[in-house]
Amino acid sequence: MPKTITINPRWGQADETHDPWVLAHFRARPSDVLITTAPKAGTTWMQQILHQMRTGGDPNFDSIDRVVPWLERPRPGMNWQQVLDWYDTLPEPRLFKTHCTAEQTPGIGTAYVVLTMRDPRDCCVSFYHHIMNLNDSARELVGLECPPSFASHVERWLAFGAWYRNVKSWWPYRDHERVLLLRYQDLKRDLTGSVDRIAALLGWALTPEHKAAVLEYSSFNWMKAHDEKFSQQIPSRAPLFKTGHFIREGKVGAYRALMTPELERRILERAREELEPECLRFLEVE
Ligand code: A3P
Repeated sequence: MPKTITINPRWGQADETHDPWVLAHFRARPSDVLITTAPKAGTTWMQQILHQMRTGGDPNFDSIDRVVPWLERPRPGMNWQQVLDWYDTLPEPRLFKTHCTAEQTPGIGTAYVVLTMRDPRDCCVSFYHHIMNLNDSARELVGLECPPSFASHVERWLAFGAWYRNVKSWWPYRDHERVLLLRYQDLKRDLTGSVDRIAALLGWALTPEHKAAVLEYSSFNWMKAHDEKFSQQIPSRAPLFKTGHFIREGKVGAYRALMTPELERRILERAREELEPECLRFLEVE
């Protein structure tokens, strides 16, 4: 397929984690499931839950990114057509992770979408540790620099604005028939009930044994003990993170240990500016 010279700006700007060519040419199938989140909202957890639901329990995969790829992620040594060719070879139902806004996401209305949203304060703190726990070479590869302080990290996180863009763009889809919106705190409180809701959306039947395997392999302890399966998110196979640091703490409200009231106020004020009151109530961040 010849490379298109111009591309519709709706697919976003190319950078280290975003390939608009892949998005523009991706053809969703009705059985596809797109896992959409703002960064650090529990993306990897949902990748694991869905992979386990799809397989009936698979503790032997090598890297979550190989079985549930990051849709818009540029792949070293592959052009966008090769990436799409690889996606074509994946067994159905295919699962993809994406951090795209709704506007940039191909296949809404065709594919299923499982959205996970998380408190912005926890996402912000989790992202701080994400950057600090990257290996130096990986940090360079993804274009992230260590912030000199937590406060400066919050400034950058606010300026980057991905959490706000993501939540604002997906909120209107919450009642769409092929979309399920879950909160990180719901997954924490009731993983069994959340798995049931996902299975109902997708029409996947789970036997009790199968469900028990999903719950075991998606538990924080199992994932923490197998951190290397989740932390190598690109095909280089080089560890991206310091060992054992990707599946980190997995708590609701852990931001309190690091965040001053002033930083918290700024994050919430921006949320109130950008999001509907109903969305804030749903996220329990009023
Ligand atoms: P913390 O840094 O707060 O611990 P993402 O996959 O979107 O990057 O999100 C990462 C966050 O999800 C991290 O949060 C990580 O610990 C948490 N997480 C991953 N697996 C989890 C699980 N099984 N249970 C609870 N939290 C999990």
